[in-house]
Amino acid sequence: MKIDNHMKLEFAGIPENVSFARLVVVTFASQLDFTLDDLEEIKVAISEAVSNAIIHGYQNQPGGLVWIESSIRENCLEVVIKDEGVGISNIEQAMQPAFTTCQDRMGLGFSFMQSFMDEIEVQSVVNGGTRIRLCKSIKNLDHDANMEH
Ligand SMILES: Nc1ncnc2c1ncn2[C@@H]1O[C@H](COP(=O)(O)OP(=O)(O)O)[C@@H](O)[C@H]1O
Ligand SMILES: [Mg+2]
Repeated sequence: MKIDNHMKLEFAGIPENVSFARLVVVTFASQLDFTLDDLEEIKVAISEAVSNAIIHGYQNQPGGLVWIESSIRENCLEVVIKDEGVGISNIEQAMQPAFTTCQDRMGLGFSFMQSFMDEIEVQSVVNGGTRIRLCKSIKNLDHDANMEH
């Protein structure tokens, strides 16, 4: 079945909203035929991206906003997470496993996003903000094929 759907969300960039944001995205995503494992992976990826916006982008200071836009296409989910925080000066370095600018962190957020989603695109402007685009496709297409008969 072909679905075209789209949503936009704006919320305060505070830690209380991480679980809210991931729940909204996963609820939206469940219109597609994702497996429970896929939905868990989407949850982790969204949590990591939203946490980064709050912890790094806004440096844990309240007052900033986070935006999420999500689209459902025929066989994939696209999610864009945006902040207007401090930005990333070296994106390639930031995405390396175990790289972090906070000593008490593990530096694995981008690694989780990369391994749990099929596409990741990072755009960032120092003192302008960061935009992460994530896509996850549906792997089991047999289901759709069977439905047509
Ligand atoms: N939205 C963001 N705004 C500013 N810096 C970011 C953002 N997201 C990630 N970063 C930078 O990229 C680094 C790596 O992020 P990540 O892989 O999630 O590891 P961690 O969050 O554990 O530091 C962060 O330490 C931070 O310097
Ligand atoms: Mg992180």
